[in-house]
Amino acid sequence: MIEIKNLSKTFETSSGPVEALKNVSISINNGDIFGIIGMSGAGKSTLVRTINMLERPSDGNVVIDGVDIGSLSDKELRKIRRTTTMIFQGFNLLMQRNCLKNVCFPLELAGTPKVEARKRALELLDLVGLKDKAKVYPAQLSGGQQQRVAIARALATNPKVLLCDEATSALDPNTTNSILELIRDINKRLGITVIIITHQMSVVESVCNRVAILENGSVVEQGDVEEIFSRPQSKAAKTLVFPEGQEEGGISDKQKYVVRIVFNGAVAANQPMVATLALEKNIKANICWASTKSIGDKAYGSMILGFATKEEMRIAEDYLSATQDVIINEI
Ligand SMILES: Nc1ncnc2c1ncn2[C@@H]1O[C@H](COP(=O)(O)OP(=O)(O)OP(=O)(O)O)[C@@H](O)[C@H]1O
Ligand SMILES: [Mg+2]
Repeated sequence: MIEIKNLSKTFETSSGPVEALKNVSISINNGDIFGIIGMSGAGKSTLVRTINMLERPSDGNVVIDGVDIGSLSDKELRKIRRTTTMIFQGFNLLMQRNCLKNVCFPLELAGTPKVEARKRALELLDLVGLKDKAKVYPAQLSGGQQQRVAIARALATNPKVLLCDEATSALDPNTTNSILELIRDINKRLGITVIIITHQMSVVESVCNRVAILENGSVVEQGDVEEIFSRPQSKAAKTLVFPEGQEEGGISDKQKYVVRIVFNGAVAANQPMVATLALEKNIKANICWASTKSIGDKAYGSMILGFATKEEMRIAEDYLSATQDVIINEI
């Protein structure tokens, strides 16, 4: 578990102090895919850098599995950074080393014997789907492939936590989805806790289970993604969830039976799905809110549907859950 407790960070600059973080408290459970979202300048990168003490906080603590890491020596911190690794927007690969050697790098630093490091690096390149690129240099790879190498490198030291600072911001939507898919797979298969820093709500909605919203250095809201998506409280959350000011379409008190549908590359788009529900099952769903994108013939994003009765909601859930790549949660 990662407990960020009353964390503050003030930078002293020539034009005066800049309060990048103000009394931030966040709890992240083991196994979470935790999103930290906010506009540019909100303090996201500063926060993520304080989680592994690349940046020393001005005040407050970061406690990882019961250890207050601010109190550790530099040597102990280097060890922590092997278990709490990072990937970045710009990939940060070593351009003069091939993929295999990039992945071997943290193992060399940790003193792993060469043969063992090479074996592990090849396994990891296989895990990220780049087995055949071991001898290729980063410049010869696409952005998505470079991020895969960076992920393999971040996994080399068997971390417990993976910190992702805008890891998909430089990628197109399809590549973004494939990288998020890989991150989800890593979280599930290896049990690694993931912290995703992003300014895109779509990233949070497609992979995160919990989220904190950062505004001007403060956390204005945190909790389960579904809860915040269906009932955003703060102004910042409302702006992120309803970017075009669509609040009026939100959930009214009358709609007691509400489901959230996440499209994860489902072939059917939202409108026909709701239309066929009406035609085939004679159920009228009320679209309370929708934010979906079609990429090719596939739909991504989410939609909140309201029903008049519980019975209707159940039938609709059965009907919609038969569609591939659609996830349904009651809210
Ligand atoms: N080393 C530094 N010295 C002075 N001020 C800094 C430093 N690093 C960050 N800041 C300031 O702290 C605030 C938060 O910056 P930060 O980089 O954490 O924001 P961010 O949310 O990551 O933004 P973006 O989405 O643009 O990456 C900004 O006002 C920034 O100018
Ligand atoms: Mg940043």
